[in-house]
Parts: sequence; structure tokens; C-alpha cells
Amino acid sequence: MRSHYCGEVTEDLLGEEVTVCGWVHRRRDHGGVIFIDLRDREGLLQVVFDPDTPAAFETAERVRGEYVLRVWGRVRERPEGTVNPELSTGRVEVLGLRLEVLNRSEPPPFQLDDETTGEETRLRYRYVDLRRPAMYERLRMRSLITRAMREFLDGNGFLDVETPMLTKATPEGARDYLVPSRTQPGSFFALPQSPQIFKQLLMMSGMERYYQIVRCFRDEDLRADRQPEFTQLDVEVSFLEPDAFMGLMESLVRHVFAKVLGVDLPAPFPRMCYAEAMGRFGTDRPDLRNPLELVEVADLVRDCDFKVFSYPAQDPGGRVAALRAPGGGALPRSVIDDYTRWVGAYGARGLAYIKVNERERGREGLQSPIVKFLSDEALSGIVERSGAENGDLVFFGADRSSVVNASLGALRDKLARDLGLGEEGWRVLWVVDFPMFEWNEGERRWDALHHPFTSPNPDDPEQVESDPGALGSKAYDLVINGSEAAGGSMRIHRRELQEAVLRTLGIPDEEARQRFGHLLDALRYGCPPHGGIAFGLDRLAMQMSGSASIRDVIAFPKTQTASCPLTGAPAPASAEQLRELGIRLKS
Ligand code: AMO
Ligand code: AMP
Repeated sequence: MRSHYCGEVTEDLLGEEVTVCGWVHRRRDHGGVIFIDLRDREGLLQVVFDPDTPAAFETAERVRGEYVLRVWGRVRERPEGTVNPELSTGRVEVLGLRLEVLNRSEPPPFQLDDETTGEETRLRYRYVDLRRPAMYERLRMRSLITRAMREFLDGNGFLDVETPMLTKATPEGARDYLVPSRTQPGSFFALPQSPQIFKQLLMMSGMERYYQIVRCFRDEDLRADRQPEFTQLDVEVSFLEPDAFMGLMESLVRHVFAKVLGVDLPAPFPRMCYAEAMGRFGTDRPDLRNPLELVEVADLVRDCDFKVFSYPAQDPGGRVAALRAPGGGALPRSVIDDYTRWVGAYGARGLAYIKVNERERGREGLQSPIVKFLSDEALSGIVERSGAENGDLVFFGADRSSVVNASLGALRDKLARDLGLGEEGWRVLWVVDFPMFEWNEGERRWDALHHPFTSPNPDDPEQVESDPGALGSKAYDLVINGSEAAGGSMRIHRRELQEAVLRTLGIPDEEARQRFGHLLDALRYGCPPHGGIAFGLDRLAMQMSGSASIRDVIAFPKTQTASCPLTGAPAPASAEQLRELGIRLKS
């Protein structure tokens, strides 16, 4: 129906006749001439109607916002002074010769360029919202990302294989979405939290190199970077050493960044072990653009008179760490109090601090209610290790390690934002050498830090059962600018080891058979060494497009309460459907 997209009509076409289609973005009536900004996915084009072509002019008088038009016209230069350098089409306009209204529109529920429109409204009328150029740009980038991924994987011998959506529970740590079976009343399918077991079975089938761009379902608390259904680029390979596999995945990520953003990422990606990441940043997904670091001070305050510090310093499960806030000496008391309340959300019971006025003067140059409790050695050690300069503030966290890491780790990010620290650009990092198990004090049992199919390091069944806390794992996470972009591991490929791990997780043999019998059986019949990874595609698209919310890179996302304002899902089922499924609801 068109000769060109609106956004393609540039000065190259001066004097030519074009046919364009699109939506009325804006219409201005300048007494005698009508201007219409016509919009399609490639851009905006100014079309002018004047009374010299009466039929088109009269129609143009009747069109309104979001009408769908087809316009025939001639490309001409815009008059001096009306050029719009912001638009690809900004030097030209089309003199409309013929106009067809393909469809009318009621006044849209919101103006496309109204930034104040609430998200609920935008999601309810998502088809209108997606007309916004910024939204199109995000979906386009997402499409470029998956295309680049497929390009790379297809070129490296990977096979795209689909796995079931109606399946059995898959242990990724979230709640399942269940689907009742009609043919077996009382039984349920679970939607996959990931294709983890299936992709391992495909390795046992000899597929060698598998990938799938696949939807995963997790019923968990939602945040800005989480959706109940999200997409993974899921990958698994056989007979590759971990280093070779990680190298291959780096090449994949480099290919995607180069193709989509024209950005060259470093080769190889740096690696950091889990313990170092926790020590320096309080998190296993540090944003390396942020220059701030935690430092250990427990040894300096072990014997001080301040119990808030000395107790955790002497406790093997405790930690006392310091974090420097550059220029923080100028922060008023009220702001420090705000930070103190803020870290409370991470379990911190306080936020001690020292202002460094003049470090040359020793304790005299430091200002804080806690200075009096600390020795000269401790004070100078703290100043030294934290790297504090005059005018800085040093914050302290003292508690169980998990609390200190969570609170100071989060404060580190907040300070960088508030103080305008941190560089631009891309910082990638592999985090490696994770512990295999983590003690869950509440439930009094061991949890797998990754998932139960990850190979422990060393992969020794006896050690798994005798000393689980000391075991590492062959897991790796890819962190991009502080977000976990991907996670994976080398897997267990021997049955005895898998059984030992499941037992250590407190899963009795009987239950293991019931939940993972298909995997345990398959492990009897010749399983190759294998491993893999999954990338969070939505998160990657969100980061690469600079979006603030994961919902911005999903065409039809769910809200914070896991519902869809557009369709109204989830919705009650009819009595008839429930009867067929053998489900009775309590009234
Ligand atoms: P994992 O659970 O770490 O690993 O998931 C892999 C990646 O998926 C993304 N992700 C999410 N994105 C959006 N919304 C969510 N609710 C959500 N949950 C996870 C993250 C994460 O890094 N089977 C293993 C992978 C493997 O071992 O190969 C798995 O699913 O970016
Ligand atoms: P208090 O002795 O409770 O008045 O606390 C003295 C200072 O130590 C205050 O600045 C508190 O915010 C801080 N503080 C208390 N508990 C902790 C903790 N667990 N970690 C860090 N600072 C703390």
C-alpha cells in the first residue's frame, strides 16, 4: 500500500511522488493549510494539505489523532526556518495530493508523548502504548539481540530444540505455576521454571550442542527486573572443558554487543571468585563501574570496648566492614539518619560512622560518637584501609556476615548513585568458585547455591556427605553492570554423585525418585560430561536498551501483582471448566 515508510522520506527523494501510510501523530490547522505529522514504525513525516487540492484538503480537515491514513504526495523542501534537525525527515515535507482515511480512531486513552501516563493505563492499552517510538525501538533491539544470538549459535554447531511447557516441577527455587489435568483429575502439570532437566537429557541423547530461546515460569515476588514469565537463552554442551565453554559464551556475548550496540567488550572477560566478590562488594553481582569497596576491619576492633563491633568481630560467622563515602563528611546528620534507616531494610541494626576532618591529626582529626571506644591503632588502620581522605565519611557494618554484606553492599550502590560516582560504559565479570551448599538456618538444612544438578568441586560423593560446607561448585555467573545476566554450571554426570547431593539437600531417596526419577534413570545409561548456562534475555534487553524496567522490553508484560491489565488475566474459570477438571472451589 506504500512506496516508502514515513521515516525513509528524506531529501534524497526531493521532487518525487511517494505513497505513505501511518497514524496521525499530530494535526495542526494553520488557517488555510493543514499540517499532519504522519507516524509509522520508522519515523514521523510532515504532510501538508492546502486548498489547491480541495478533495484532499477537505478530508484532512476531518482527520483526528490516531486516524490511519494513506497519503499520495510530492516530496519538497521545508521552508527556511522550519527544518527540524531532530527528525530523519526533518528537512523535507510531503505536499499531500490525495488522502484516504483507512480507519478512524476514537480519541486515544492517552497522548503518546505524555510521559505522565500511569503504567496501569499504558498496559491496559498496550497496543497504543507500543506505538510510541521508544517502545518500538526497545522491541526492535530485542529482536536484534535474539537474531545475533541465533546467528552465533547456528554458526557454532548448536541445535535449536524445543522442550515441553506442560511438565513436572523443575527446581529453580521459586513456586510453580500449575495446570490441572482434565484426563487425570487431581493431577497437575507444572510450567517449567527452566528447561534444566530436559536440556541435560538432550546431552544424554547425544545432541552435543543445544540452545533454545525459551519461556520460563516462576511464581515469585516481582521486582523491577523480574517477571513471572520471562525468557532465557538456554544453552547446554557436552565434552567441553569449563574454560572452553566459558570462552565460547564470551564470544557469544561479544558478538551480540558488537552487532547490536557496536560495543567491543574485552577478551577475555575478567573473573573473580565468589569469596572475593563478597569481601570487596558484599554481593556476588558487583557493579564494577562503582569504584567504592568494602574493607575488613574486624581484626582492628576485636578487643575494643564497643560491643557492637567486638562481638561480631570475634564471631566466626560475623563481619565488621567499613565503606568510605567520598566527600561524605559534608552530609548533615539528617541524611546519615536516613541512610541508617535505609540499611535497616537489609537487617542492619545501625550504621556507625566516622567523619574524617583532618587525618594528619590522628584521633583529634576524627569525629564520631564511637571514636572514644577505639584505639589509636584501630583508628589509623581504619583510615588507612578504607582510603579515607579529609572530608570523607566512613560507614561501618557490624553483624552476621550475611547482614553486613546485604546492607553495606546495597549502601555501596546507593552511595555511588547519590554521590554521582561511577563510570559509564560496560563492565562484565564472571563470578566463579561458588560454594556448593549454603546452610539455611531457618529450615536447618543445606540448600544448593545454584541448583542440585551442579557439579561440586571436587566432585567426590564422599566429601559431599561428610563436609558439605567446605565444598565449592563448578558454577559461574555472568555479571554485566551489576546485574546477573546469566548463570550456569558444569553438571553432575554420575549417578552416585547426584544421589549424594540430593541426600545432602535433605531430599530422601524416595522423594528424589518421585521428583527426579527420570533424570536418575537417565544417568544409568551413559551420560557424557556436560554443562551449560542460561541468559536472562529480558534483563539483557533491558540493560542494552537502557530501560528502567523489565516491563519495557516485553510486549505484553505482567504487573507487580502478576496480572495483565490488557486481557484481565488471571480470571475466574467457568463452572463448566472447573467441573471438567474435577476442581471444586470452596464458596
Ligand atoms: P537461573 O535461575 O540463574 O538459572 O536463571 C538464569 C537467568 O535468568 C534470569 N532470570 C530472570 N529474569 C527475569 N525474571 C525472572 N523472574 C528471572 N529469574 C531468572 C537471570 C538469570 O541469570 N537452569 C539454570 C541455568 C543453568 O544452570 O544452565 C537457571 O535457570 O538473568
Ligand atoms: P548505639 O551504641 O546503639 O547508640 O550505637 C552507636 C552507633 O553505632 C550508632 O551510630 C549506630 O547507628 C551504630 N550501630 C549500632 N549497631 C550497629 C551495627 N550492627 N552495625 C553498624 N553500626 C551499628
